[in-house]
Amino acid sequence: MKEKLIDNAIQVLERNFQEGGFTIPSEGLYPFQWKWDSGFIALGFAHYDLKKAMGEIETLMDAQWENGFIPHIVFHNDSDSYFPGPDFHQSHLHPQASKKYRSTGMTQPPVTGFILERLLEISGESHEMLDFIAKHIDKVYHNHEYFYTHRDLEKNGLVYIYHNWESGTDNSPIWDDIWDTMDPPEYEFERRDTTHVDPAQRPSKREYDHYLYIIDIAKKYNYDDAKIAEHSPFLVLDPLFNAMLIRSNEALIKLYGRLGGNEDKISFLGEKQAQSIAGLNSKLFNEDLGAYVHFDLRNNKQLLYVCSSSFTPLYAGAPTQEQAKILVNTLMDKFGDEGRYLCASFDPTHERFNPRKYWRGPVWINLNWMLHHGLKRYGFTDLAQRVKNDSLELIDNNGFFEYFDSRKDNPDAEKNGYGGDNFSWSAALLIDFLKDES
Ligand code: GLC
Repeated sequence: MKEKLIDNAIQVLERNFQEGGFTIPSEGLYPFQWKWDSGFIALGFAHYDLKKAMGEIETLMDAQWENGFIPHIVFHNDSDSYFPGPDFHQSHLHPQASKKYRSTGMTQPPVTGFILERLLEISGESHEMLDFIAKHIDKVYHNHEYFYTHRDLEKNGLVYIYHNWESGTDNSPIWDDIWDTMDPPEYEFERRDTTHVDPAQRPSKREYDHYLYIIDIAKKYNYDDAKIAEHSPFLVLDPLFNAMLIRSNEALIKLYGRLGGNEDKISFLGEKQAQSIAGLNSKLFNEDLGAYVHFDLRNNKQLLYVCSSSFTPLYAGAPTQEQAKILVNTLMDKFGDEGRYLCASFDPTHERFNPRKYWRGPVWINLNWMLHHGLKRYGFTDLAQRVKNDSLELIDNNGFFEYFDSRKDNPDAEKNGYGGDNFSWSAALLIDFLKDES
């Protein structure tokens, strides 16, 4: 079974690999290069084709802006199967945007640092990979510098996101509270996603109005960070985003140590790292909920919901052992019922939970991958194994879908895999999960 699954996963990756040397997340639905997808995809390639793994990172870094920013989508190619495309985003409005590629003017969770660390491990510490890292690590560092310079408003080590698409968890019920504070115009546009996927599994038209409106505000200010911070109705400290930054800082410190020299960079990262961990634990940990939560900077309050992002600080090593225990209790209490696969993307005990709709409940493989490694890091070995087994079983039973129903006895569907089919990171991370055992 294992070999067959790996073969099938390789086929998915090969099919999604493009001539330009990058990989699309899913044909039709996502026809360009996405930032955090690229990181996870590179891990899958690394197990059988190091060149492709390196190419994946290289093609992303090539689109970095002069100020260190890395966009969430790079429009390497043309495609009319996606909205909103490059003409809507207009990244050229920012004076330091890439002159070579069109892109969006927003970013996604900073995974590249820890991806480089894992690539080195997978390569068996090869010289080739070490050379590759030496060539690219400063770009990732520059990206972290960008975050701490332009996105850390309160100078407490926590960086904000200004759009729900920056979080990676596009239509999480958490954002509903923010949509309630807004009244965007009704946009006229042709949705493309719902021609590929059942609309019941995607965000609503009204939600899209909010998404587009925030982009229009950012465009009005030419994607200037300070202006966005002043005017965007969406300004959030996200535990997932910050956990990724912290985990990637840790990786960069380790990799710089391995390469030698660069004391100034190691010390900058070390200082920021300490601040970010302290910030995360003081501002985003909620004792009553027993979990990390999001903080709405615009309206100055914590958003009191538990979702799969709430547990990602485990992967970053941010909680104390005591906090880790509290997190695991919350996880088991709300998400851990034996009748469910781990880990639903949103609190299954909450009225906003929807088991079929995108980030409002289904299981996502990349979140499970981070949760698995986070639980292992804190010694919760059995639970880590359960998260991994659940991920493998969902893919084995249903295929390489984008997201999955968490209910083991889902009464109203013939299958439990939703969204895009032949989805790249589900394939890539399955390979990494399975090869990790051997
Ligand atoms: C969806 C997901 C996002 C991902 C993108 C491409 O928008 O919410 O996290 O990066 O698809 O796969």
